[in-house]
Amino acid sequence: MWIDTSALGGLKTSPATPQTEPLLRKAPVTTPLLQIERLGKAYVADKPVFADVSFTLERGEFVCVIGHSGCGKTTILNVLAGLDTATEGHVFMESREMVGPSLERGVVFQGHALMPWLTVRQNIAFAVKSRWPDWSAAQTRAHVEKFVQLVGLSHAIDKKPSQLSGGMKQRVGIARAFSIQPKMLLLDEPFGALDALTRGTIQDELMGIVRETHQTVFMITHDVDEAILLADRILLMSNGAETPDGYKPGGIAEVVVNPLPRERTRASLHHLDGYYDLRNHIVDFLVSRAKAH
Ligand SMILES: Nc1ncnc2c1ncn2[C@@H]1O[C@H](COP(=O)(O)OP(=O)(O)OP(=O)(O)O)[C@@H](O)[C@H]1O
Ligand SMILES: [Mg+2]
Repeated sequence: MWIDTSALGGLKTSPATPQTEPLLRKAPVTTPLLQIERLGKAYVADKPVFADVSFTLERGEFVCVIGHSGCGKTTILNVLAGLDTATEGHVFMESREMVGPSLERGVVFQGHALMPWLTVRQNIAFAVKSRWPDWSAAQTRAHVEKFVQLVGLSHAIDKKPSQLSGGMKQRVGIARAFSIQPKMLLLDEPFGALDALTRGTIQDELMGIVRETHQTVFMITHDVDEAILLADRILLMSNGAETPDGYKPGGIAEVVVNPLPRERTRASLHHLDGYYDLRNHIVDFLVSRAKAH
């Protein structure tokens, strides 16, 4: 019902505009923000962690990835961030092949990845100054304070990471990623270490900011409800596994299009028609199909 199989092989089907028919050409075909083509990663020859991973990210789209530990989610995110290289395949951003990291992509890591000797303000200012080196000190300061406020940390702005709780550190990571106003946000379990209450609050904050800024987001989560709340599409990843026919690499087993209205909230989610079907579908995948496909 929600399976969008076209997304799996869609890249190959977009025809080039024939040069012999220029009169037929209308408005330029909009390309996706990000195109991932047949990505694969092997640490051990002949036993890739995943293979043949293809999908696109449209501008303003929120895509979540769900899969068991070790299936390669962080590896894919690191490749998209330009921090790791794939063994196979290509990644294109606005039709240009991506090489290396760039401030066009904001990353929130699975750990906190803050510089421990810098305060919250300095950690974020460091990113802002890299992005806009010509800004005045006052401009940078105002920008940093705005994003710290956005994640509710104004009271801790001059503290160092060691003085913060895990949840607060993750908020700093989120504020830093948003502060450089990237074309795309890459989030690796950004709420993993948060208690349920804080997690809910920050999910709401993130959803609000994303809706307002039309930010494009690629996010890894282990939390099915979080994916249903936030994502327009959910990529279900399976792990690589030995089968009677030999080794099968992991990959995207299914792309689930979220049918729930976009205005959904945490409070309304479980009252919406289709919520339980969607949830059961994803949980069934994780329980019985994710280990091999
Ligand atoms: N540098 C490395 N050398 C060898 N194997 C690695 C290396 N980095 C990752 N792997 C392996 O690649 C696989 C995928 O790792 P990855 O971190 O992408 O998984 P993940 O899906 O993000 O898992 P988790 O949900 O636990 O974060 C794992 O089996 C891991 O052991
Ligand atoms: Mg990971």
